[in-house]
Amino acid sequence: MDLLSIDSLSDEQIATLLERGEHWFEENRARRPAEPLKGRLVLNLFYEHSTRTAMSFAAAAHRLGASPLFLPVEQSSVKKGETFEDTARTLGAMRPDCLVLRHRENGAPARMAGMVECPVINAGDGTNEHPTQALLDALAIRLRFRRIEGLKVAILGDIRHSRVAHSNALLLPRLGATVRLAGPAMLMPDELLATPSVDEAIEGADVVMMLRVQRERLAEELGDAPGEYLERYGLTPERLARAAPGAVVMHPGPMNRGVEIADEIADDPERSLILLQVEAGVALRMACLELLLA
Ligand code: NCD
Repeated sequence: MDLLSIDSLSDEQIATLLERGEHWFEENRARRPAEPLKGRLVLNLFYEHSTRTAMSFAAAAHRLGASPLFLPVEQSSVKKGETFEDTARTLGAMRPDCLVLRHRENGAPARMAGMVECPVINAGDGTNEHPTQALLDALAIRLRFRRIEGLKVAILGDIRHSRVAHSNALLLPRLGATVRLAGPAMLMPDELLATPSVDEAIEGADVVMMLRVQRERLAEELGDAPGEYLERYGLTPERLARAAPGAVVMHPGPMNRGVEIADEIADDPERSLILLQVEAGVALRMACLELLLA
């Protein structure tokens, strides 16, 4: 079994991942060691920069007793012109127990899954999907609210380039939440142009999920003066006041502070779930490795 997209998971598998994710969250907090995957080898292959996703997959493998290895792509034969197919087959020939792949091209993890025998996990492909991020977001919401059903989630910002938004828009409604997507017109996908404004989408929301403006994927520069994005579309205290009382703030990271999110909100210990998302990420990825490898 591979973990390539939200739709590749059954409702039952999603429920298992969230339950086991919560289990591992508690085990990690209690610092109880576990080694159900002792002796297993997890190869991590990241063609795009990453802090959270890369380290949390490594931490998850470690905490389960498996060994995570990283190919530093910048120093690898990829730089000598080796094709993606040859890299995939080469790593597959080392008989790993799992391959975790982040790639700038949509569909690369699915292509890799067709070339290797072990399970492949999609750690983010282009603008397509980032299924484990959506699952860890769901786990963080559940840890905070003790439910997901019935919650209103506003996902705001660079929707056009966001694999995180895409996977969350597929996952959260399956768990009973209502999702509203909004952002500047030039950062909305064409099929979603008629959506509400950021201010409308945030109205009464229980969860406000901000997205990074992905400058590396923008063909043309936004052209805005610094501070202008925050003023018009970003999460400021004034804008957050439109959300439901007790609303929480999420961001997959990395944040552009002062662009999509104001400092005082990012650092608000009551309302910001941003570091809880990171902690939930290790636990959720342990649940994924367990599901695929145990
Ligand atoms: C995101 C990603 O890479 O898709 N970050 C993450 O994995 N936590 C979002 C982003 O890069 O903006």
